[in-house]
Amino acid sequence: MVEIVPSILSANFARLAEEIACVERGGARIIHLDVMDGRFVSNLTIGPPVVESVRKCTKLHLDVHLMIEEPERYVTQFVKAGANSVSVHYEACRHLDGTLALIRQAGAMAGVVLNPATSVSVLEDVLGVVDYVLLMSVNPGFGGQKLIPYVLDKVRRLNMMRRAKNLALPIEIDGGVHRENLVEVVRAGCDWIVTGSGVFHSPDPEATVREMREIAASATDVRC
Ligand code: DX5
Ligand code: ZN
Repeated sequence: MVEIVPSILSANFARLAEEIACVERGGARIIHLDVMDGRFVSNLTIGPPVVESVRKCTKLHLDVHLMIEEPERYVTQFVKAGANSVSVHYEACRHLDGTLALIRQAGAMAGVVLNPATSVSVLEDVLGVVDYVLLMSVNPGFGGQKLIPYVLDKVRRLNMMRRAKNLALPIEIDGGVHRENLVEVVRAGCDWIVTGSGVFHSPDPEATVREMREIAASATDVRC
């Protein structure tokens, strides 16, 4: 099942509970939360207290994307705050295997994120111990950027890798996805499709999620 995953980065933070309720009515089952530290990326966003507050206002799966240095110092805190899945950047982890183990031990799904320029080939050996892979389709840090087209080739390659290894792990994509390029993204092989500005800057986020779910479902007939 392909999931449309709204990123609250583009939501109105003063009305977060209502914004989340709205996309939930549209059919969203996963909410994406972007954590930035001003070091791994230049932007700053939220920490565990916000995840904890969001946890109190929804039962949906909370997918936390850590764009921070030394994520091993914080992963357990984010799981305790209510994250169902936590992803860390390959580029930020000196001991990736150990950090993934920490996330799993804390009780959440463990994901690896790759920046656009990092090849999926670095995942060859670790793929068996990750629960999902997030491929960045923009340089991380800000919403509202354009999808980098070569990332769709990476999605296709990763799709072949997981098939060859008989793994069912979801492929997540993040950045520059909106209604107009959704079919192409789904056909490349993505399962969790993050969209921030495409949903929250649309005139009717609830209807946009509903419509994107329908488009995604009908595009799954023709998958790579
Ligand atoms: C960017 C974040 C994204 C962001 C995507 O670094 O990781 O999750 O919210 O925003 P859009 O969909 O607007 O590109
Ligand atoms: Zn993200």
